[in-house]
Amino acid sequence: MKAAVFHEHGSSENIKWEDFPDPECGPDDVVIKVGAAGLNGFEPMILLKTTALKTPLPMIVAGDAAGEIVELGANVKDWAISDRVSIYPMVAGEGMTGETRLGTCAQYHRIPASHLVRMPDALTYEHAASLPIAYGTALRMMVTRAKVKAGEKVMILGAAGGVGTAAVQLAKAAGAEVIACSSSDWKLEKLKEIGADHVVNTSETNFREWVWDNFGKPRMGQSGGIDLMVNYIGGDTWIDCLRSIGPGGRMTLCGATQDYKTDNDCRYIWTYEIDIIGSNGWTMEDQAEMMRMVAANEITPVIDTVLPLSETAKGVQKLIDRDFFGKIVLVP
Ligand SMILES: NC(=O)c1ccc[n+]([C@@H]2O[C@H](COP(=O)([O-])OP(=O)(O)OC[C@H]3O[C@@H](n4cnc5c(N)ncnc54)[C@H](OP(=O)(O)O)[C@@H]3O)[C@@H](O)[C@H]2O)c1
Repeated sequence: MKAAVFHEHGSSENIKWEDFPDPECGPDDVVIKVGAAGLNGFEPMILLKTTALKTPLPMIVAGDAAGEIVELGANVKDWAISDRVSIYPMVAGEGMTGETRLGTCAQYHRIPASHLVRMPDALTYEHAASLPIAYGTALRMMVTRAKVKAGEKVMILGAAGGVGTAAVQLAKAAGAEVIACSSSDWKLEKLKEIGADHVVNTSETNFREWVWDNFGKPRMGQSGGIDLMVNYIGGDTWIDCLRSIGPGGRMTLCGATQDYKTDNDCRYIWTYEIDIIGSNGWTMEDQAEMMRMVAANEITPVIDTVLPLSETAKGVQKLIDRDFFGKIVLVP
């Protein structure tokens, strides 16, 4: 088969569309013909080797995929050839797809049958492949963990990416007032189009000052500030985040794009009784729920670009350049 492969860590030029051995279907596995694969902010981190886990090389790019079953292992009972599925990419014993197990930017992909989620008929492969990592993570972070509610003021840093646009859509669906942050004006215009009530250009305006100017400075026993901060940027953003959150508010995070070593001033956490809510991954039920919501037209995934699988390197470079809004999807 052909696959988007890198043999060494480094730039996107290391990713080549080349011949790669066909996947071998074990007794408990299926092989799918990839209908679409999805890229995430994780892909540059793996390529550039900034994640904690060691990636075996050569590696095929990407963690998300949807497609059609073309081969069934001898023990597989509940699935049939031609079934349309998305994959649940975190596999016990093998690790994360595209990081420690071979990725999805390929013509075919092998995965244990226990890691398949059935696609509703109404869903396209492009939509299904854009959902698991970004929308699954956002669903768990915003709904299951942070319990976003109607009327809450919710600020989302780095809102223009995959998890961010999903978080904006889920917060709006819950009835929250959303303040979306990005460093570029064209992305802020698009954030308004998907429902953000306010936007802040963080390359020009300090987001904490924006909160104080618009909602007041948080004060004990009074109001001011926001209810929920969504911060997977990390690095030097924490102190301004803590100073933006009102009494009894919370901050949720599922990552740290800039740096996991963060600045901090813990006085704000106890003084204002702020809850810090970690969120990691999502469940197969979350993935099925996101597919149901899209098939029912409750949410439309935000897809920036659809490229041929053979141009995976171009897609990864767009992620590195921050030149995208929402998701980048690859198709055969
Ligand atoms: N724990 C989990 O299960 C899990 C799952 C998925 C993702 N994550 C994490 O969630 C985060 C978001 O993932 P994603 O796929 O949505 O990423 P993404 O699509 O690449 O989006 C990242 C967004 O963050 C901003 N950004 C990028 N680099 C930045 C930097 N150095 N400093 C400040 N802002 C920066 C960009 O904002 P601009 O608009 O300003 O350019 C961009 O819109 C990542 O940290 C990822 O590791 C965790």
